[in-house]
Amino acid sequence: MSDSAAPKIDVARENGKFLSASLESIAVDIKLPYSLYLSIDQKLVKFRNVGDTLTPERQKALSDRKVDTVYIERQEWQTYIGGLEASLDQQGIARGNEKAAMGLRNALGAYLQLVLAGDEVTKASFSKAEDLSAKLPIAIGQSRELAHKLLRRSTDPAMYFSNHAVNVAIYASAVGLKMRMTGQELQDLVLAATFANIGVIKIPRQILYKPGPLTQDEWKIIRQHPQYGKEILGALLVKPKIQEVVLQHHERFDGGGYPAGLMGQKIQLFARITTIAECYSAMTSNRPWKAASSPHEAVSMMQSTQGKFDNSLFSLLIEK
Ligand SMILES: [Fe+2]
Repeated sequence: MSDSAAPKIDVARENGKFLSASLESIAVDIKLPYSLYLSIDQKLVKFRNVGDTLTPERQKALSDRKVDTVYIERQEWQTYIGGLEASLDQQGIARGNEKAAMGLRNALGAYLQLVLAGDEVTKASFSKAEDLSAKLPIAIGQSRELAHKLLRRSTDPAMYFSNHAVNVAIYASAVGLKMRMTGQELQDLVLAATFANIGVIKIPRQILYKPGPLTQDEWKIIRQHPQYGKEILGALLVKPKIQEVVLQHHERFDGGGYPAGLMGQKIQLFARITTIAECYSAMTSNRPWKAASSPHEAVSMMQSTQGKFDNSLFSLLIEK
């Protein structure tokens, strides 16, 4: 599909006072401690007040109408996240229980929404996201089917980066698990994968969400995000090894990437995995500037790039 098919984003909303939540993350049959808004004709309309209830029937009716995103005022976001955290089922996550794993996925996605909506990452929200991401390999290590169920491709462009970050972490974990990495290695890999694109918070929103093609100058600015990401993680005292993965996640196996043009094994293993996970996730998602390819198309396109990716790792991602 062409760029013209890409969804438009309301940049004002992105910079404004609302954050996007997946409809299925909203607790049903309780008095809601926050208000909910729906996007109708590009306008946000309140449809539940504090103290109202969302019934499972209403949630399903919205879902049947292809509504997958609701909006919560930024000042009520901590209340929303608090609810997700309070209902986390640690034992269920360890057993690979689907509902528990979905709760983990939603909580991680909610922290990433918060992080990506700002222009700096606080230590508190980073630590929360770090703790939650570390549990992802535990949950998805139980079954491949569960990993697939946790992938999210929202129709809302504002949710692209947070969904993408979690999807990249899921794909990277799947490769790490197949390589039989240790628990610590998996934690490091998944943290690097989750935060690979954190540097985008330093990119002007008008460029980041520009529908349609970017100019050469705009691409130059976008290509600074690995360096910004390394700096952000450095300020948060994240291990240098993880900072390097973030810096290297746009390097390509054939030396054609950026920022350093590193080649082959000179690129860290975790960065080579993150690259593959990121490309595959991006190509199969609706991006603000480009509509999604099918998984089959994405695999064909990545296989046809001849040497851009570490093929032995790519095989691990796509093999049954
Ligand atoms: Fe990136």
